[in-house]
Amino acid sequence: MSRNLLAIRHLEVEEIEEILILAAEFKKKVTMGAPLPATNKVVGQLFFENSTRTRVSFEQAAHYLGMKSVNFTAGTSSLQKGETLKDTILTLRYERLNGLVMRHPSSGAPALASRYFAGPVLNAGDGRHEHPTQAFADALTVMERRGSVEGLNIAIVGDVEHSRVARSNAWLLAKLGANVRFVGPRTLMPAHSGLLPGEVYYDLESGIRDCDVIIALRLQRERMESGLIGSVGEYARMYQINRDTLRLASNDALLLHPGPINRGIELDDAAADGERSVITAQVENGIFVRMAALHWCFAEDKPKPKPKPKPARSTKVARKKVAR
Ligand code: NCD
Repeated sequence: MSRNLLAIRHLEVEEIEEILILAAEFKKKVTMGAPLPATNKVVGQLFFENSTRTRVSFEQAAHYLGMKSVNFTAGTSSLQKGETLKDTILTLRYERLNGLVMRHPSSGAPALASRYFAGPVLNAGDGRHEHPTQAFADALTVMERRGSVEGLNIAIVGDVEHSRVARSNAWLLAKLGANVRFVGPRTLMPAHSGLLPGEVYYDLESGIRDCDVIIALRLQRERMESGLIGSVGEYARMYQINRDTLRLASNDALLLHPGPINRGIELDDAAADGERSVITAQVENGIFVRMAALHWCFAEDKPKPKPKPKPARSTKVARKKVAR
């Protein structure tokens, strides 16, 4: 049985750590040009919403793992002739695809697909629900610089309500022991923010004060009803991360953004391209965490080794840490 990767919320801490360790190992191997495990799997890359980073990095990840990508774009498929998502997924299953990477505007669409598909389904972002591999890329980027996320104050700033990145990051970072803060206007906070693992701040100054990490979010205007913000200019005046507002955070605070950036709105150029910014590292790490995610999802396809007879006394296995 293979595994799906649909959401961080339902993962155990050990599973999260396993994927992060795998990602760090893949990064080392790719960087050194060391041999990688090759498979002949065929992965459908189903993008029902626009994407640059996630799509390219999933394709790169599949390429490094010796997998073939079959690209599927809603606009040129039989969906345009009225085919349902269920029938599309069943078709891809009987076209003998081994796995699916799926981005969709509706929350829960990859979970639905996993009911009709035979192999692993990886969520590449569904509506405002979750974007698990982005959270892995962000955590790896922070852990490489700080060793661990445990005990760090991490502010997720902006349009939390419409952001799947905010939700996946909050679950992952909180599970690993970080103190998560959600910072943004009242109208862009989820109504049930109490169900998410973090403290809510409506004011940027108190929200990012003494933070070790700031994750700025894009205003998701495509998912927004009108009237949620007064104007983009007003939003930028109150919540933009720029040279001045960055000073409110810790001296060595890291600045992340999942991209695409609306420059001049959630970030100014000085912040986006400044020395605190690790945005390009997030992009690169996207490849390695997606390699880890694909590998992890397919891993159980391998025949399991026969269980060895138990030793008389249990032996402790030291937990590996992600290298700095
Ligand atoms: C995000 C997404 O699509 O959820 N981008 C990404 O995958 N790196 C964030 C966004 O679109 O704002």
